[in-house]
Amino acid sequence: MQINDNGAMIRAKAANVVDMVINKGRSLDRAIEKVNVGDENSQKSLFKAICYGTIRFHWELKAQLNQYISRPIRKKDKIIETLLIVGFFQIKNTRIPPHAIVTQTVEAARLLKKPNLCAFINAVLRGFLRSGWSEYIDENEEVIYNHPQWIINTLKNSWPDNWREIIGNNNKQAPMWLRVNQKKITGKEYLHKIANSQNLPIEEIGYLGDLDQSICLKNPISVKLLPDFDSGSVSIQDGAAQIAAECLLNGFSGRILDACAAPGGKTGHLLEKINDSSTVTAIDIDPNRTNIIEKNLDRLGLQAKIITADVADTKSWWDAKLFDLILLDAPCSASGVIRRHPDIKHLKREEDIHSLNLMQLNIINSLWSLLKPGGQLLYVTCSVFTEENDLVIENFKKTHSDVIAKKLLLNNNIHDVMHKTIYGYQLLPGTRGMDGFYFSYLEKAIL
Ligand SMILES: C[S@@+](CC[C@H](N)C(=O)[O-])C[C@H]1O[C@@H](n2cnc3c(N)ncnc32)[C@H](O)[C@@H]1O
Repeated sequence: MQINDNGAMIRAKAANVVDMVINKGRSLDRAIEKVNVGDENSQKSLFKAICYGTIRFHWELKAQLNQYISRPIRKKDKIIETLLIVGFFQIKNTRIPPHAIVTQTVEAARLLKKPNLCAFINAVLRGFLRSGWSEYIDENEEVIYNHPQWIINTLKNSWPDNWREIIGNNNKQAPMWLRVNQKKITGKEYLHKIANSQNLPIEEIGYLGDLDQSICLKNPISVKLLPDFDSGSVSIQDGAAQIAAECLLNGFSGRILDACAAPGGKTGHLLEKINDSSTVTAIDIDPNRTNIIEKNLDRLGLQAKIITADVADTKSWWDAKLFDLILLDAPCSASGVIRRHPDIKHLKREEDIHSLNLMQLNIINSLWSLLKPGGQLLYVTCSVFTEENDLVIENFKKTHSDVIAKKLLLNNNIHDVMHKTIYGYQLLPGTRGMDGFYFSYLEKAIL
């Protein structure tokens, strides 16, 4: 049989990427950036699908593999264990003909310089194919749900009635969302524009979200194929993330602080919506990421005052003029965006939540004194853990007597699908195709 070299190369590189994430603690995006699988689009998407899927279902795939090997694979051959897991993923979750998966995986072992293990790989994969692998049952919760136990437990505590739904959605692929720049074009017009450029009916492209400028695409489209992307008509941003600017502004204007702003998704949205009398200051601690804000705003043709600083160290950057509105998109576990970043399940640790809490509380405490009496602060996280959401606000309120937690001012469609919490609102991942986000809308009382 003729071997497709690219096929073997893709499997070998996918094993390298998965190994970097699972065994070396690298982020999936970084690991993928490190490898080159050529420029052909179909090849790139197959490679990405294999990497993301294997990371997403790793617990289950590994447990199944253990049933097909008589003893653990030696430490020096760990990459072969990963290659087999990559093979199991394809057999279970893709339509690639099984014989092709076996052949390419065996050849990938040669590329990984493990030719002595080719026969072993062949035997394990064929054994897996012969058996009724789809009947697999396990009692271990990590294997059943494909999440680490600490995340399962934290979700059970935060969402006793919804944790299974959250986990189910976390294990699905997220759709691609667009934010249309309403200064240039409406959502509806843009949807038509994509449909025309792709020569497809609108229903094949996607649908308008609950916010006027949001579009959810049926299938991802390469940025290069998005009409007028370079001239700033559109940006890529999840529907839930678009709620932030919408909710903070709501008829208000003035001096606006976008704290923890990089890469500038919400900064761009704020600037697209404000009038000429408002200004935006965007701050982030990471200089590489503030550079990205600059690039993103350049593309949109919009301007903000961009500062690289620890936003909690207000002495280092604040000009002593109070803000009317503050958006605090706090650093968090990102537990609401696991669909997009399945590596979070492998990389985050339970102890991280405590240090994130200290950071979140420190930042909101520091920023509150920069807000005008009567002004609004929107605390946002892409987390579904109560510890990073209501509990932060509860602790913050204990030391401030001038905090009023307000109703989120949004259209009813969105309101109705959010869960009201004690101090805010939670959107769970997957709701109307959106990511999991928490919003607490706080007003500073005039005492
Ligand atoms: C959730 S991301 C922000 C996403 C951004 N708001 C957007 O919409 O594109 C959190 C950001 O917080 C930044 N960050 C973390 N600690 C910070 C601090 N003490 N001061 C300023 N920025 C901080 C991180 O560098 C990261 O870019």
